[in-house]
Amino acid sequence: MGSLGDWPEPVVCVQSLSESGDLVIPDQYVKPPLERPSLCFTDINIPVIDLAGLVTSRETTMKQISEACREWGFFQLVNHGVRAELVDGAREIWREFFHEPMEVKQKYANSPKTYEGFGSRLGVEKGAILDWNDYYYLNYLSLSHTNWPSQPPSLREVMEEYSNEILRLGAVLLKIFSINLGLKEDHLHNAFGGRDVGACLRANFYPKCPQPDLTLGLSSHSDPGGMTFLLPDEQVCGLQIRKNNQWITVKPTHHAIIVNIGDQLQVLSNTIYKSVEHRVIVNPDKERVSLAYFYNPKNNLLIQPISELVTSETPALYPPMTFDEYRRFIRTKGPHGKLQVESLKSPR
Ligand code: OGA
Ligand code: NI
Repeated sequence: MGSLGDWPEPVVCVQSLSESGDLVIPDQYVKPPLERPSLCFTDINIPVIDLAGLVTSRETTMKQISEACREWGFFQLVNHGVRAELVDGAREIWREFFHEPMEVKQKYANSPKTYEGFGSRLGVEKGAILDWNDYYYLNYLSLSHTNWPSQPPSLREVMEEYSNEILRLGAVLLKIFSINLGLKEDHLHNAFGGRDVGACLRANFYPKCPQPDLTLGLSSHSDPGGMTFLLPDEQVCGLQIRKNNQWITVKPTHHAIIVNIGDQLQVLSNTIYKSVEHRVIVNPDKERVSLAYFYNPKNNLLIQPISELVTSETPALYPPMTFDEYRRFIRTKGPHGKLQVESLKSPR
């Protein structure tokens, strides 16, 4: 127990807790007071970037993206070229999956060994406080098989089309980031492993919660990978990002794709780009569905600050580590894993 072999205690599906009609959530979901969601009154939103501007006003758009990566680590892309029906379809097909009968979902129950499949917990620490969330996790690229659910029948086809679009968008962004960092345009593409980039999907289901002020749908974390493309639920807000020690609720723009910098891009850019902490709050009346697509470097490549970005004034802040090694920490520790990795920083 406590290893990456199996869960340390029986896993409870959050949807079944929600559907039990109980007005009190189990103690295991009650966060310590400082982690509970606080009311947030600000109107600030993350930057919205019109990607069509790359053609019509290239310099301005490049600058907007640069600032978003440095100051926010998060932005929403509009006019990204992914068909609106595909944006809606990719998210809504997962809503359908989560509404399948429990017996169907249980066939895909996951284990902490690979996390692939249907699950309700992250991390293997016995007695840990859990998040109000069920999910489906898939390794999409770089492994020989993908554990697709067989229901709904068109899920795989929709996700493959969506994935092709995101891979195209990912390549465009890596080029823009490279140029903005003063590097050759294919620098980050190569640092990610060229054509061998990795990709994983996490569909999130946040059931209604009778005591949303005591818990979180997803604890504060940063994404361990390269960058994340998120399709949020457009009807129900929930994603919050930390900015200047304040939690800002993201207001989704219609058919936008949210992009955020992950830990590997923070390392490669030697913290010029920020992998920002974010979390999800839950709702008493409405379920929420989101789809996160993690665009990652190849597993076994050493990731370290790019030498062109390391100077005597800005020494390398991280030791070289493969994404595989990095991810192992996160998987053992749950969403708070990054804090452990941060202590490995080697100021030289
Ligand atoms: C994630 C994530 C945010 C959301 O899956 O890593 O941050 O809105 N999701 O569900
Ligand atoms: Ni995340």
